[in-house]
Amino acid sequence: MIPHKSTKPALDSLLAAIALILMLAPAMSNAADDTQVGRQLFEKRCTGCHALDRNKEGPRLGGVYGRKVGSVQGFGYSAGMKSAGFTWDDSHLERWLSDTDSVVPDNNMDFHLASAQERAAVIRYLKALSTTR
Ligand code: HEC
Repeated sequence: MIPHKSTKPALDSLLAAIALILMLAPAMSNAADDTQVGRQLFEKRCTGCHALDRNKEGPRLGGVYGRKVGSVQGFGYSAGMKSAGFTWDDSHLERWLSDTDSVVPDNNMDFHLASAQERAAVIRYLKALSTTR
């Protein structure tokens, strides 16, 4: 049997459309994927002590990017945190998550993230939360 003549061009344009979608999809989902990675890291590494919307062993972290250090009402910060006086931005968060004592000596957060990649992803996540609200 002779193959139907019109299937070849139809198949070609279908393949072209699929190729185009495969090319565009990563670009469209990059930003969402990145936030997803940060959210997962936050849940894995930080939620033992922090939540976004309430104080636990650590202060609530929703909106922490751009917030003054030690300023959540009702949280019992260490003395150093209460008097530190800076605002959380990329460089403070980067240093805080590498070695909290280099930012505020004698603070009560006994934790650090050894991976620079993980620190960056968590910081982008916290930043995205603050700037989309
Ligand atoms: C073992 C518990 C613990 C873990 C795990 C932890 N934290 Fe903390 N965090 C604290 C405590 C306690 C404080 C308050 C420190 C103080 O008052 O000296 C704090 C404070 C902070 C602050 C300052 C907030 C403010 O209001 O000024 C930031 C930012 C922060 N943590 C981010 C993180 C991130 C991001 C993670 C995960 C990568 C994390 N923490 C993991 C216990 C923890």
